Amino acid sequence: MRVLRRTLGTLLVLGLLGGCLSCAAARGDDAGPGDRRAEAPAPYEQLLPAPASVRAAGPGYPLGPGTVIRTGPVGDDEVRRVGELLAEQLRGPTGLPLPVVEGLEGTAGAGILLRIDARAEGVGEEGYRLESAPRGVTLTARTPAGLFHAGQTLRQLLPPAGAGTVPGGQITDAPRFAYRGAMLDIARHFFPVEQVKRYVDQLARYKVNTLHLHLTDDQGWRIAVDSWPRLAEYGGGSEVGGGPGGHWTKDQYRDLVAYAAARYVDVVPEIDMPGHVNAALASYAELNCDGKAPERYTGIKVGFSSLCVGKDRTYEFIDDVLGELAALTPGRYLHIGGDEAHSTPAADYAAFMDRAQAVVGKYGKTVVAWHQLAAARPAPGAVLQYWGHDKTAAAEKAAVAAAAKAGHPLILSPADRLYLDMKYDATTKPGLAWAGYVPVRRAYDWDPGTYLAGSGVPASAVLGVEAPLWTETIATRPDLEFMAFPRILGLAELGWNPAPPDWSGYSRRLAAQAPRLDAESITYYRAPDVPWP
Ligand code: ACM
Repeated sequence: MRVLRRTLGTLLVLGLLGGCLSCAAARGDDAGPGDRRAEAPAPYEQLLPAPASVRAAGPGYPLGPGTVIRTGPVGDDEVRRVGELLAEQLRGPTGLPLPVVEGLEGTAGAGILLRIDARAEGVGEEGYRLESAPRGVTLTARTPAGLFHAGQTLRQLLPPAGAGTVPGGQITDAPRFAYRGAMLDIARHFFPVEQVKRYVDQLARYKVNTLHLHLTDDQGWRIAVDSWPRLAEYGGGSEVGGGPGGHWTKDQYRDLVAYAAARYVDVVPEIDMPGHVNAALASYAELNCDGKAPERYTGIKVGFSSLCVGKDRTYEFIDDVLGELAALTPGRYLHIGGDEAHSTPAADYAAFMDRAQAVVGKYGKTVVAWHQLAAARPAPGAVLQYWGHDKTAAAEKAAVAAAAKAGHPLILSPADRLYLDMKYDATTKPGLAWAGYVPVRRAYDWDPGTYLAGSGVPASAVLGVEAPLWTETIATRPDLEFMAFPRILGLAELGWNPAPPDWSGYSRRLAAQAPRLDAESITYYRAPDVPWP
Protein backbone atom coordinates (compact mmCIF):
# COMPACT_ATOMS: atom_id res chain seq x y z
CA MET A 1 0.00 0.00 0.00
CA ARG A 2 1.30 3.44 -0.86
CA VAL A 3 2.39 5.85 1.82
CA LEU A 4 -0.64 7.49 3.35
CA ARG A 5 -0.75 11.23 3.11
CA ARG A 6 -2.18 13.09 6.03
CA THR A 7 -4.96 14.89 4.20
CA LEU A 8 -6.03 11.64 2.61
CA GLY A 9 -5.97 9.53 5.72
CA THR A 10 -9.69 9.66 6.29
CA LEU A 11 -10.43 8.86 2.67
CA LEU A 12 -8.09 5.90 2.49
CA VAL A 13 -9.41 4.45 5.72
CA LEU A 14 -12.87 4.68 4.23
CA GLY A 15 -11.47 2.99 1.14
CA LEU A 16 -10.04 0.13 3.16
CA LEU A 17 -13.39 -0.28 4.83
CA GLY A 18 -14.92 -0.53 1.41
CA GLY A 19 -16.77 2.81 1.52
CA CYS A 20 -17.46 5.07 -1.42
CA LEU A 21 -14.63 7.56 -1.62
CA SER A 22 -15.92 9.93 -4.20
CA CYS A 23 -18.43 11.65 -1.96
CA ALA A 24 -15.85 12.47 0.70
CA ALA A 25 -13.22 13.16 -1.93
CA ALA A 26 -15.48 15.55 -3.73
CA ARG A 27 -16.27 17.36 -0.48
CA GLY A 28 -12.57 17.59 0.44
CA ASP A 29 -13.66 17.54 4.07
CA ASP A 30 -10.30 17.64 5.73
CA ALA A 31 -8.51 20.08 3.46
CA GLY A 32 -7.59 22.89 5.83
CA PRO A 33 -6.32 26.01 4.08
CA GLY A 34 -2.90 25.60 5.70
CA ASP A 35 -2.10 22.25 4.08
CA ARG A 36 -3.76 22.73 0.70
CA ARG A 37 -0.76 23.79 -1.31
CA ALA A 38 1.69 21.23 0.02
CA GLU A 39 -0.29 18.02 -0.45
CA ALA A 40 -1.20 16.72 -3.88
CA PRO A 41 -4.16 14.33 -3.69
CA ALA A 42 -3.56 10.65 -4.43
CA PRO A 43 -4.37 9.56 -8.00
CA TYR A 44 -7.96 8.44 -7.41
CA GLU A 45 -8.63 11.75 -5.67
CA GLN A 46 -7.20 13.74 -8.56
CA LEU A 47 -9.57 12.50 -11.21
CA LEU A 48 -11.39 15.21 -13.10
CA PRO A 49 -14.27 14.88 -13.65
CA ALA A 50 -14.61 12.96 -10.39
CA PRO A 51 -16.09 9.52 -11.02
CA ALA A 52 -19.49 8.67 -9.61
CA SER A 53 -18.00 5.99 -7.38
CA VAL A 54 -14.37 5.19 -6.49
CA ARG A 55 -12.79 2.62 -4.24
CA ALA A 56 -9.01 2.68 -3.78
CA ALA A 57 -7.87 -0.77 -2.64
CA GLY A 58 -4.70 -2.81 -2.58
CA PRO A 59 -1.66 -2.80 -4.84
CA GLY A 60 -2.01 -1.74 -8.46
CA TYR A 61 -0.74 -2.62 -11.91
CA PRO A 62 2.74 -1.45 -12.94
CA LEU A 63 2.96 -0.71 -16.65
CA GLY A 64 6.12 -2.14 -18.17
CA PRO A 65 7.81 -3.13 -21.41
CA GLY A 66 5.66 -6.28 -21.53
CA THR A 67 2.33 -4.47 -21.16
CA VAL A 68 -0.13 -5.37 -23.90
CA ILE A 69 -3.48 -3.72 -24.62
CA ARG A 70 -6.09 -6.38 -25.35
CA THR A 71 -9.49 -5.69 -26.88
CA GLY A 72 -12.58 -7.79 -27.11
CA PRO A 73 -14.66 -9.25 -28.47
CA VAL A 74 -12.53 -10.43 -31.38
CA GLY A 75 -13.69 -8.85 -34.62
CA ASP A 76 -15.07 -5.72 -32.98
CA ASP A 77 -13.20 -3.15 -35.05
CA GLU A 78 -14.45 -0.18 -33.10
CA VAL A 79 -13.25 -1.51 -29.76
CA ARG A 80 -9.92 -2.34 -31.37
CA ARG A 81 -9.73 1.22 -32.69
CA VAL A 82 -10.42 2.57 -29.18
CA GLY A 83 -7.60 0.33 -27.94
CA GLU A 84 -5.24 1.62 -30.66
CA LEU A 85 -6.05 5.22 -29.78
CA LEU A 86 -5.47 4.57 -26.09
CA ALA A 87 -2.14 2.92 -26.92
CA GLU A 88 -1.18 5.96 -28.99
CA GLN A 89 -2.13 8.30 -26.14
CA LEU A 90 -0.13 6.27 -23.60
CA ARG A 91 2.98 5.63 -25.70
CA GLY A 92 4.12 9.27 -25.64
CA PRO A 93 4.19 9.78 -21.88
CA THR A 94 5.17 6.20 -20.93
CA GLY A 95 7.71 5.48 -23.66
CA LEU A 96 6.39 1.90 -23.78
CA PRO A 97 5.64 -0.05 -26.99
CA LEU A 98 2.13 -1.08 -25.85
CA PRO A 99 1.15 -3.42 -28.68
CA VAL A 100 -2.61 -3.87 -29.24
CA VAL A 101 -3.98 -7.36 -29.73
CA GLU A 102 -7.52 -8.61 -30.22
CA GLY A 103 -8.91 -11.22 -27.89
CA LEU A 104 -9.30 -11.56 -24.15
CA GLU A 105 -9.51 -15.34 -23.87
CA GLY A 106 -6.92 -17.06 -21.73
CA THR A 107 -5.28 -13.83 -20.68
CA ALA A 108 -6.56 -13.99 -17.10
CA GLY A 109 -6.49 -10.25 -16.77
CA ALA A 110 -2.90 -9.63 -17.89
CA GLY A 111 -2.19 -6.18 -19.29
CA ILE A 112 -4.79 -3.53 -20.07
CA LEU A 113 -8.08 -5.11 -21.15
CA LEU A 114 -10.86 -3.28 -22.98
CA ARG A 115 -14.04 -5.31 -23.01
CA ILE A 116 -17.65 -4.75 -23.99
CA ASP A 117 -20.24 -6.17 -21.65
CA ALA A 118 -23.76 -5.28 -22.78
CA ARG A 119 -25.05 -6.09 -19.28
CA ALA A 120 -22.53 -4.03 -17.30
CA GLU A 121 -24.40 -2.35 -14.46
CA GLY A 122 -24.31 1.24 -13.31
CA VAL A 123 -22.53 2.53 -16.39
CA GLY A 124 -25.28 3.57 -18.80
CA GLU A 125 -24.42 4.28 -22.42
CA GLU A 126 -21.27 6.29 -21.83
CA GLY A 127 -19.95 5.07 -18.50
CA TYR A 128 -17.52 2.32 -17.58
CA ARG A 129 -15.97 0.20 -14.89
CA LEU A 130 -12.25 0.27 -14.19
CA GLU A 131 -10.57 -2.37 -12.05
CA SER A 132 -6.87 -2.23 -11.27
CA ALA A 133 -4.97 -5.04 -9.57
CA PRO A 134 -1.40 -6.39 -9.87
CA ARG A 135 -2.08 -8.56 -12.96
CA GLY A 136 -3.70 -5.81 -14.97
CA VAL A 137 -6.32 -3.18 -15.52
CA THR A 138 -9.73 -4.11 -16.89
CA LEU A 139 -11.94 -1.52 -18.55
CA THR A 140 -15.53 -2.62 -19.07
CA ALA A 141 -18.35 -0.73 -20.77
CA ARG A 142 -21.53 -1.32 -22.71
CA THR A 143 -20.30 0.78 -25.61
CA PRO A 144 -17.02 1.78 -27.26
CA ALA A 145 -17.72 5.35 -26.08
CA GLY A 146 -17.68 4.08 -22.50
CA LEU A 147 -14.37 2.33 -23.12
CA PHE A 148 -12.95 5.53 -24.58
CA HIS A 149 -13.94 7.46 -21.45
CA ALA A 150 -12.47 4.69 -19.28
CA GLY A 151 -9.21 5.10 -21.17
CA GLN A 152 -9.15 8.80 -20.39
CA THR A 153 -9.59 8.00 -16.71
CA LEU A 154 -6.75 5.50 -16.94
CA ARG A 155 -4.50 8.20 -18.42
CA GLN A 156 -5.19 10.39 -15.38
CA LEU A 157 -4.29 7.56 -13.01
CA LEU A 158 -0.79 7.43 -14.49
CA PRO A 159 1.85 10.10 -13.99
CA PRO A 160 1.99 12.87 -16.64
CA ALA A 161 5.38 11.46 -17.71
CA GLY A 162 6.93 8.02 -17.23
CA ALA A 163 5.38 4.55 -17.08
CA GLY A 164 4.21 4.33 -13.48
CA THR A 165 1.66 2.16 -11.74
CA VAL A 166 -2.11 2.31 -12.03
CA PRO A 167 -3.02 2.28 -8.32
CA GLY A 168 -5.17 -0.59 -7.13
CA GLY A 169 -8.88 0.09 -6.98
CA GLN A 170 -12.22 0.12 -8.73
CA ILE A 171 -14.31 2.79 -10.36
CA THR A 172 -17.91 2.61 -11.52
CA ASP A 173 -18.76 5.71 -13.46
CA ALA A 174 -21.44 7.29 -15.64
CA PRO A 175 -22.19 10.88 -16.66
CA ARG A 176 -24.85 13.10 -15.14
CA PHE A 177 -25.75 14.74 -18.47
CA ALA A 178 -25.86 13.33 -21.99
CA TYR A 179 -24.78 16.66 -23.49
CA ARG A 180 -21.43 18.05 -22.34
CA GLY A 181 -20.36 20.67 -24.80
CA ALA A 182 -17.94 23.37 -25.78
CA MET A 183 -18.58 25.94 -28.50
CA LEU A 184 -15.92 27.61 -30.58
CA ASP A 185 -16.61 30.69 -32.70
CA ILE A 186 -14.41 30.42 -35.79
CA ALA A 187 -16.36 33.23 -37.49
CA ARG A 188 -15.15 36.33 -35.62
CA HIS A 189 -11.59 35.07 -35.91
CA PHE A 190 -10.73 32.17 -38.14
CA PHE A 191 -8.99 29.14 -36.65
CA PRO A 192 -7.48 26.33 -38.72
CA VAL A 193 -8.60 22.71 -38.40
CA GLU A 194 -5.34 21.73 -36.68
CA GLN A 195 -6.02 24.12 -33.80
CA VAL A 196 -9.56 22.82 -33.44
CA LYS A 197 -8.29 19.22 -33.39
CA ARG A 198 -6.04 20.20 -30.52
CA TYR A 199 -9.07 21.57 -28.69
CA VAL A 200 -10.98 18.35 -29.41
CA ASP A 201 -8.14 16.35 -27.84
CA GLN A 202 -8.25 18.52 -24.75
CA LEU A 203 -12.05 18.27 -24.48
CA ALA A 204 -12.17 14.52 -25.00
CA ARG A 205 -9.57 14.02 -22.30
CA TYR A 206 -12.08 15.43 -19.79
CA LYS A 207 -15.10 13.58 -21.24
CA VAL A 208 -16.67 16.58 -22.97
CA ASN A 209 -18.61 14.96 -25.79
CA THR A 210 -19.86 17.80 -28.02
CA LEU A 211 -18.13 20.49 -30.04
CA HIS A 212 -20.51 23.15 -31.29
CA LEU A 213 -18.91 25.15 -34.10
CA HIS A 214 -20.18 28.68 -34.72
CA LEU A 215 -19.36 28.66 -38.43
CA THR A 216 -20.91 31.88 -39.69
CA ASP A 217 -21.45 35.41 -38.47
CA ASP A 218 -21.34 39.00 -39.63
CA GLN A 219 -17.55 38.92 -39.86
CA GLY A 220 -17.00 35.69 -41.76
CA TRP A 221 -18.44 32.56 -43.39
CA ARG A 222 -16.12 29.65 -42.64
CA ILE A 223 -17.53 26.55 -44.35
CA ALA A 224 -17.56 25.84 -48.09
CA VAL A 225 -21.03 25.55 -49.63
CA ASP A 226 -20.89 24.19 -53.20
CA SER A 227 -24.15 25.75 -54.34
CA TRP A 228 -23.20 29.21 -53.00
CA PRO A 229 -19.41 29.32 -53.41
CA ARG A 230 -18.96 33.03 -52.74
CA LEU A 231 -20.08 32.53 -49.12
CA ALA A 232 -16.74 30.99 -48.21
CA GLU A 233 -14.59 32.42 -50.98
CA TYR A 234 -15.60 36.03 -50.46
CA GLY A 235 -17.57 35.98 -47.21
CA GLY A 236 -14.81 33.99 -45.53
CA GLY A 237 -12.13 36.44 -46.57
CA SER A 238 -12.27 38.74 -43.58
CA GLU A 239 -12.46 38.69 -39.80
CA VAL A 240 -12.60 41.03 -36.84
CA GLY A 241 -9.84 43.61 -37.11
CA GLY A 242 -9.49 43.21 -40.88
CA GLY A 243 -7.31 40.08 -40.97
CA PRO A 244 -7.46 37.68 -43.92
CA GLY A 245 -9.93 35.26 -42.31
CA GLY A 246 -10.26 31.94 -44.09
CA HIS A 247 -12.60 29.01 -44.46
CA TRP A 248 -12.61 25.24 -44.27
CA THR A 249 -13.16 23.11 -47.34
CA LYS A 250 -15.69 20.31 -47.05
CA ASP A 251 -12.85 17.79 -46.89
CA GLN A 252 -11.28 19.67 -44.01
CA TYR A 253 -14.63 19.78 -42.25
CA ARG A 254 -15.16 16.04 -42.78
CA ASP A 255 -11.67 15.38 -41.48
CA LEU A 256 -12.41 17.34 -38.29
CA VAL A 257 -15.76 15.60 -37.81
CA ALA A 258 -14.10 12.19 -38.19
CA TYR A 259 -11.28 13.13 -35.85
CA ALA A 260 -13.79 14.26 -33.24
CA ALA A 261 -15.98 11.17 -33.74
CA ALA A 262 -12.99 8.90 -33.09
CA ARG A 263 -12.79 10.63 -29.70
CA TYR A 264 -16.56 10.39 -29.12
CA VAL A 265 -17.04 14.11 -29.64
CA ASP A 266 -20.07 15.03 -31.73
CA VAL A 267 -19.75 18.12 -33.91
CA VAL A 268 -22.82 20.39 -33.92
CA PRO A 269 -22.53 22.93 -36.75
CA GLU A 270 -24.21 26.32 -36.41
CA ILE A 271 -25.33 28.59 -39.23
CA ASP A 272 -26.63 31.64 -37.40
CA MET A 273 -29.84 33.17 -38.83
CA PRO A 274 -31.82 35.34 -39.48
CA GLY A 275 -29.37 37.80 -37.87
CA HIS A 276 -25.57 37.62 -37.74
CA VAL A 277 -25.51 37.24 -41.53
CA ASN A 278 -23.54 40.16 -42.91
CA ALA A 279 -20.91 37.85 -44.44
CA ALA A 280 -23.66 36.12 -46.46
CA LEU A 281 -25.35 39.39 -47.42
CA ALA A 282 -21.98 40.78 -48.55
CA SER A 283 -21.35 37.70 -50.68
CA TYR A 284 -24.67 37.69 -52.56
CA ALA A 285 -26.56 40.88 -53.43
CA GLU A 286 -29.67 38.81 -54.20
CA LEU A 287 -30.02 37.91 -50.51
CA ASN A 288 -30.62 41.56 -49.61
CA CYS A 289 -34.12 43.05 -49.66
CA ASP A 290 -32.80 46.00 -51.70
CA GLY A 291 -30.65 43.81 -53.95
CA LYS A 292 -27.48 45.60 -52.85
CA ALA A 293 -24.64 43.81 -51.10
CA PRO A 294 -23.16 45.56 -48.04
CA GLU A 295 -19.43 45.78 -47.39
CA ARG A 296 -17.76 43.02 -45.44
CA TYR A 297 -17.72 43.80 -41.72
CA THR A 298 -14.72 43.64 -39.39
CA GLY A 299 -16.04 45.30 -36.22
CA ILE A 300 -17.69 43.68 -33.19
CA LYS A 301 -21.18 45.15 -33.11
CA VAL A 302 -24.14 42.76 -33.16
CA GLY A 303 -27.76 42.86 -34.24
CA PHE A 304 -27.50 44.96 -37.41
CA SER A 305 -27.95 42.35 -40.16
CA SER A 306 -30.94 40.24 -41.21
CA LEU A 307 -31.82 37.85 -43.97
CA CYS A 308 -34.66 39.16 -46.15
CA VAL A 309 -37.62 37.35 -44.62
CA GLY A 310 -40.05 38.22 -47.41
CA LYS A 311 -37.95 36.92 -50.29
CA ASP A 312 -38.31 33.40 -51.75
CA ARG A 313 -34.62 33.36 -52.60
CA THR A 314 -33.85 33.46 -48.86
CA TYR A 315 -35.53 30.09 -48.38
CA GLU A 316 -33.77 28.55 -51.39
CA PHE A 317 -30.57 29.76 -49.77
CA ILE A 318 -31.23 28.20 -46.36
CA ASP A 319 -32.44 24.99 -47.97
CA ASP A 320 -29.22 24.70 -49.98
CA VAL A 321 -26.96 25.60 -47.07
CA LEU A 322 -28.66 23.41 -44.46
CA GLY A 323 -28.98 20.54 -46.95
CA GLU A 324 -25.25 20.56 -47.66
CA LEU A 325 -24.45 20.93 -43.98
CA ALA A 326 -26.77 18.07 -43.01
CA ALA A 327 -24.95 15.87 -45.52
CA LEU A 328 -21.67 16.67 -43.73
CA THR A 329 -23.13 15.95 -40.30
CA PRO A 330 -23.38 12.41 -38.91
CA GLY A 331 -24.80 13.74 -35.62
CA ARG A 332 -28.43 14.50 -34.96
CA TYR A 333 -28.27 18.27 -34.40
CA LEU A 334 -28.13 21.33 -36.65
CA HIS A 335 -27.89 24.65 -34.80
CA ILE A 336 -29.63 27.54 -36.54
CA GLY A 337 -28.72 30.36 -34.17
CA GLY A 338 -31.69 32.67 -33.82
CA ASP A 339 -30.02 35.01 -31.31
CA GLU A 340 -29.82 38.80 -31.36
CA ALA A 341 -32.02 39.20 -34.45
CA HIS A 342 -32.53 42.84 -33.51
CA SER A 343 -33.00 43.90 -37.14
CA THR A 344 -35.76 41.37 -37.78
CA PRO A 345 -39.26 42.37 -36.56
CA ALA A 346 -40.69 39.82 -34.07
CA ALA A 347 -43.42 38.55 -36.41
CA ASP A 348 -40.91 38.15 -39.24
CA TYR A 349 -38.53 36.39 -36.88
CA ALA A 350 -41.19 33.86 -35.89
CA ALA A 351 -42.25 33.28 -39.50
CA PHE A 352 -38.66 32.86 -40.60
CA MET A 353 -37.76 30.47 -37.78
CA ASP A 354 -40.84 28.35 -38.62
CA ARG A 355 -39.50 27.84 -42.12
CA ALA A 356 -35.86 27.38 -41.08
CA GLN A 357 -36.86 24.73 -38.52
CA ALA A 358 -38.89 22.92 -41.17
CA VAL A 359 -35.80 22.77 -43.39
CA VAL A 360 -33.77 21.20 -40.57
CA GLY A 361 -36.53 18.62 -40.13
CA LYS A 362 -36.66 17.96 -43.87
CA TYR A 363 -33.01 16.93 -43.75
CA GLY A 364 -33.64 14.57 -40.86
CA LYS A 365 -31.97 16.64 -38.18
CA THR A 366 -33.05 18.07 -34.83
CA VAL A 367 -33.04 21.84 -34.34
CA VAL A 368 -30.85 23.51 -31.76
CA ALA A 369 -31.29 27.27 -31.39
CA TRP A 370 -30.37 29.96 -28.91
CA HIS A 371 -33.14 30.46 -26.36
CA GLN A 372 -34.70 33.46 -28.17
CA LEU A 373 -36.56 30.83 -30.19
CA ALA A 374 -38.62 30.17 -27.05
CA ALA A 375 -40.48 33.44 -27.63
CA ALA A 376 -41.42 32.32 -31.17
CA ARG A 377 -42.58 28.79 -32.07
CA PRO A 378 -40.00 26.11 -31.36
CA ALA A 379 -40.67 23.01 -33.47
CA PRO A 380 -41.49 19.76 -31.65
CA GLY A 381 -38.28 18.36 -30.22
CA ALA A 382 -36.25 21.54 -30.79
CA VAL A 383 -33.49 22.03 -28.24
CA LEU A 384 -32.99 25.50 -26.76
CA GLN A 385 -29.63 26.81 -25.66
CA TYR A 386 -30.00 29.21 -22.74
CA TRP A 387 -27.36 31.96 -22.63
CA GLY A 388 -28.97 34.34 -20.15
CA HIS A 389 -27.40 35.52 -16.95
CA ASP A 390 -28.30 36.82 -13.52
CA LYS A 391 -29.76 40.03 -14.96
CA THR A 392 -31.83 38.37 -17.69
CA ALA A 393 -35.43 39.58 -17.54
CA ALA A 394 -37.91 37.34 -15.71
CA ALA A 395 -40.20 37.32 -18.78
CA GLU A 396 -37.41 35.93 -20.93
CA LYS A 397 -36.69 33.20 -18.42
CA ALA A 398 -40.42 32.47 -18.16
CA ALA A 399 -40.58 31.89 -21.93
CA VAL A 400 -37.71 29.44 -21.62
CA ALA A 401 -39.44 27.71 -18.70
CA ALA A 402 -42.67 27.43 -20.68
CA ALA A 403 -40.78 25.81 -23.56
CA ALA A 404 -39.02 23.46 -21.15
CA LYS A 405 -42.34 22.43 -19.60
CA ALA A 406 -43.69 21.84 -23.10
CA GLY A 407 -40.92 19.29 -23.62
CA HIS A 408 -38.05 21.24 -25.16
CA PRO A 409 -34.72 20.07 -23.78
CA LEU A 410 -32.35 22.82 -22.60
CA ILE A 411 -28.63 23.21 -22.97
CA LEU A 412 -27.42 25.61 -20.28
CA SER A 413 -24.74 28.13 -21.19
CA PRO A 414 -25.30 30.93 -18.67
CA ALA A 415 -23.15 33.80 -19.92
CA ASP A 416 -22.04 34.80 -16.43
CA ARG A 417 -20.99 31.21 -15.65
CA LEU A 418 -19.95 29.44 -18.83
CA TYR A 419 -19.02 32.07 -21.41
CA LEU A 420 -15.32 31.44 -21.78
CA ASP A 421 -14.82 34.81 -23.46
CA MET A 422 -15.78 36.70 -20.30
CA LYS A 423 -12.69 38.01 -18.53
CA TYR A 424 -11.64 36.30 -15.30
CA ASP A 425 -11.21 39.68 -13.62
CA ALA A 426 -10.17 43.26 -14.38
CA THR A 427 -6.60 42.18 -15.14
CA THR A 428 -7.51 39.71 -17.93
CA LYS A 429 -6.23 41.05 -21.26
CA PRO A 430 -8.36 39.19 -23.85
CA GLY A 431 -12.10 38.82 -23.52
CA LEU A 432 -15.19 40.89 -22.87
CA ALA A 433 -17.11 41.65 -19.67
CA TRP A 434 -20.70 42.45 -20.66
CA ALA A 435 -22.00 39.59 -18.49
CA GLY A 436 -19.52 40.45 -15.72
CA TYR A 437 -16.27 38.78 -14.81
CA VAL A 438 -16.28 34.99 -14.60
CA PRO A 439 -13.63 33.77 -12.16
CA VAL A 440 -12.75 30.07 -12.18
CA ARG A 441 -14.81 29.42 -9.08
CA ARG A 442 -17.90 31.12 -10.51
CA ALA A 443 -17.69 29.00 -13.67
CA TYR A 444 -17.84 25.85 -11.56
CA ASP A 445 -19.79 26.68 -8.41
CA TRP A 446 -23.43 26.26 -9.48
CA ASP A 447 -25.85 23.42 -10.10
CA PRO A 448 -27.25 23.04 -13.63
CA GLY A 449 -30.13 20.93 -12.29
CA THR A 450 -31.54 23.73 -10.14
CA TYR A 451 -30.12 26.73 -11.98
CA LEU A 452 -33.43 27.80 -13.56
CA ALA A 453 -35.69 26.09 -11.01
CA GLY A 454 -36.73 29.50 -9.65
CA SER A 455 -38.12 30.32 -13.09
CA GLY A 456 -39.98 27.02 -13.26
CA VAL A 457 -37.56 24.90 -15.29
CA PRO A 458 -37.66 21.28 -14.11
CA ALA A 459 -34.28 19.55 -13.67
CA SER A 460 -35.48 16.86 -16.08
CA ALA A 461 -35.50 19.43 -18.92
CA VAL A 462 -31.76 19.97 -18.67
CA LEU A 463 -30.05 18.03 -21.45
CA GLY A 464 -26.69 19.33 -20.39
CA VAL A 465 -24.24 22.19 -20.33
CA GLU A 466 -22.05 23.94 -22.86
CA ALA A 467 -19.24 26.48 -22.55
CA PRO A 468 -19.12 28.85 -25.53
CA LEU A 469 -15.92 30.63 -26.55
CA TRP A 470 -16.69 33.68 -28.68
CA THR A 471 -13.70 35.12 -30.45
CA GLU A 472 -14.27 38.83 -31.04
CA THR A 473 -11.13 39.51 -28.98
CA ILE A 474 -9.43 36.13 -29.32
CA ALA A 475 -7.24 35.52 -32.36
CA THR A 476 -4.42 33.25 -31.21
CA ARG A 477 -3.99 29.80 -29.72
CA PRO A 478 -2.45 31.09 -26.47
CA ASP A 479 -5.36 33.49 -25.92
CA LEU A 480 -7.91 30.81 -26.78
CA GLU A 481 -6.37 28.35 -24.33
CA PHE A 482 -5.88 31.00 -21.65
CA MET A 483 -9.60 31.79 -21.71
CA ALA A 484 -10.72 28.15 -21.90
CA PHE A 485 -8.34 26.75 -19.30
CA PRO A 486 -9.01 26.05 -16.62
CA ARG A 487 -12.70 27.05 -16.79
CA ILE A 488 -13.56 24.37 -19.35
CA LEU A 489 -12.62 21.77 -16.74
CA GLY A 490 -15.36 23.18 -14.51
CA LEU A 491 -17.79 22.54 -17.36
CA ALA A 492 -16.45 18.99 -17.68
CA GLU A 493 -16.99 18.40 -13.97
CA LEU A 494 -20.51 19.87 -13.93
CA GLY A 495 -21.49 17.88 -16.99
CA TRP A 496 -20.23 14.56 -15.71
CA ASN A 497 -20.17 14.31 -11.94
CA PRO A 498 -23.50 14.07 -10.13
CA ALA A 499 -22.33 15.40 -6.72
CA PRO A 500 -23.30 18.92 -5.63
CA PRO A 501 -20.60 21.47 -6.41
CA ASP A 502 -17.84 21.60 -3.83
CA TRP A 503 -15.17 24.19 -4.48
CA SER A 504 -12.68 22.93 -1.89
CA GLY A 505 -12.48 19.42 -3.32
CA TYR A 506 -12.79 20.53 -6.91
CA SER A 507 -10.08 23.16 -6.69
CA ARG A 508 -7.61 20.60 -5.32
CA ARG A 509 -8.40 18.23 -8.17
CA LEU A 510 -8.09 21.10 -10.62
CA ALA A 511 -4.70 22.03 -9.18
CA ALA A 512 -3.57 18.44 -9.65
CA GLN A 513 -4.18 18.82 -13.41
CA ALA A 514 -1.44 21.47 -13.67
CA PRO A 515 1.40 19.08 -14.65
CA ARG A 516 -0.87 17.56 -17.31
CA LEU A 517 -1.79 20.97 -18.73
CA ASP A 518 1.90 21.92 -18.64
CA ALA A 519 2.82 18.70 -20.45
CA GLU A 520 0.49 19.78 -23.29
CA SER A 521 1.94 23.33 -23.30
CA ILE A 522 -1.47 24.78 -22.49
CA THR A 523 -1.19 28.41 -21.38
CA TYR A 524 -3.83 28.26 -18.65
CA TYR A 525 -4.85 30.99 -16.21
CA ARG A 526 -3.40 30.34 -12.76
CA ALA A 527 -6.40 31.51 -10.75
CA PRO A 528 -5.21 32.81 -7.38
CA ASP A 529 -7.74 30.79 -5.35
CA VAL A 530 -6.68 27.41 -6.78
CA PRO A 531 -3.89 25.62 -4.81
CA TRP A 532 -1.66 25.07 -7.83
CA PRO A 533 1.49 23.04 -7.17
C1 ACM B 1 -25.04 34.92 -27.99
O1 ACM B 1 -24.17 35.11 -27.12
N1 ACM B 1 -25.40 35.91 -28.79
C2 ACM B 1 -25.69 33.63 -28.14
